[in-house]
Amino acid sequence: KIKLNETDPRKVKLGRGTRDKEVDYSSSGRGTRVRVLGRVHRARKQKDVLFITLRDGYGYLQCVLTGPLAKTYDAITLTLESSIEITGEMWEVPPGAHAPNDRELHADFFRIQKTWKAAGGEDAITTRIQPDTDHSVLMNLRHLTLRGDVASSIMFVRDAVEFAFHKVYMDKSIRKVSPPALVQTQVEGGATLFKFDYYGETAFLTQSSQLYLETCLPSMGDVYCIEKSFRAEKSLTRRHLSEYTHVEAELDFITFDDLLDHLEDTIVKVLEVTMSSPTIAGYVQALNPEFKMPERPFKRMRYTEAIDWLRDHDVLNEEGLPHTFGDDIAEAAERKMTDEINRPIFLTHFPVEIKAFYMQKDKDDLRVTESVDCLMPGVGEIVGGSMRMDDYDELMAAFKRHEIDPAPYYWYTDQRKYGSSPHGGYGLGLERFLAWLCKQHTVRDCCLYPRYMGRCTP
Ligand code: 4AD
Repeated sequence: KIKLNETDPRKVKLGRGTRDKEVDYSSSGRGTRVRVLGRVHRARKQKDVLFITLRDGYGYLQCVLTGPLAKTYDAITLTLESSIEITGEMWEVPPGAHAPNDRELHADFFRIQKTWKAAGGEDAITTRIQPDTDHSVLMNLRHLTLRGDVASSIMFVRDAVEFAFHKVYMDKSIRKVSPPALVQTQVEGGATLFKFDYYGETAFLTQSSQLYLETCLPSMGDVYCIEKSFRAEKSLTRRHLSEYTHVEAELDFITFDDLLDHLEDTIVKVLEVTMSSPTIAGYVQALNPEFKMPERPFKRMRYTEAIDWLRDHDVLNEEGLPHTFGDDIAEAAERKMTDEINRPIFLTHFPVEIKAFYMQKDKDDLRVTESVDCLMPGVGEIVGGSMRMDDYDELMAAFKRHEIDPAPYYWYTDQRKYGSSPHGGYGLGLERFLAWLCKQHTVRDCCLYPRYMGRCTP
């Protein structure tokens, strides 16, 4: 065996180091010597040659073990997912052959440390995860399924989207804050509150950071946060989680139209930043081959127009009757309409009765609120937002109408006492945005470790 010098050859990350210009690939054979470390993603023996697809989270690399190397004990007993260190020369793949990035590593040394070997036989990863394995079993094995191409590429897109939100908000001079998760007030109705004992007092896991963001406006200007929100959703749907990542922003001294314009611009810019990385664009393309940048302007549709659309298309409400003003548009009806219109929709001006206590009424039609849901084909609602009631007395009356005790909200109602302003904001469900972008059937596959009714493990 070649004695390995730890500093030379250069240790490179797959996809990054193996692609950068310093590494020279020569079709005549001699290329740069590199050292790579990763997991055995695939392995295939062809005559006396062992082809290993190595994975290290940065990319995939085909490694070729020939001659005595392929006949070693470790090569013969190689198991998928084992960790391995390989040293060799980077070559271009021969004409007609295929490998990631059209290159392969011709190994002259490899090493699998004793603790690096993955289980085989009965316990092999491929025995535990089969093509027809039940989704709930796959969820129990999430720590292993995360190693797959699809699961990991969604996580890479997620990382890029989150980064894009930070970048776009920074470019718009919107400041990031970090509101608390443990709270004593509700935002979106008592039915979905997770309650717990907080040193003898009742407290909840936050449903939304909105009220806290509102308190930041007077000193910080426009603010945003990307935090977890929690909802005790007592039904299992493909777009509801118990814990989700909530992208929320609050903007000061705006009109409702400003809010809609900002939202449209933010969504498009986030997509532009995300897709500006060729690697991420490649993942999106693989997951969602039909993906196209949404056309601007987004379709704007009032709630009453949606009711008319549903009636015209014979889509019934939850009681099996034609929709009428005041109905909450259920998930199935909303999705049917969104899928048929097949472009992003800003659905606006929902009736006061079906919306949260804090929403500003429309001055021209007091039956409705200055509210918006952004609906995306395949998923439905991904954003909920509104202008906020800025008048103290009106807000107190709203608490009364919703039978909410205003006392614990003193810090919120004080905002209307000390320099109120026309302001509004929104919350976007990151997993729903990803389900749309990556064309996933369920938001569960867009979280690292999803939480929903009946699942809090792993
Ligand atoms: O419409 P929602 O309930 O609005 C609010 O919470 C506002 N206070 C936000 C704000 O104005 N700052 O939720 C906003 C978004 C939804 O459009 C949806 O994308 C997501 O949060 N969402 C969920 N995502 C996954 N699982 C759940 N159980 C969700 N509930 C809401």
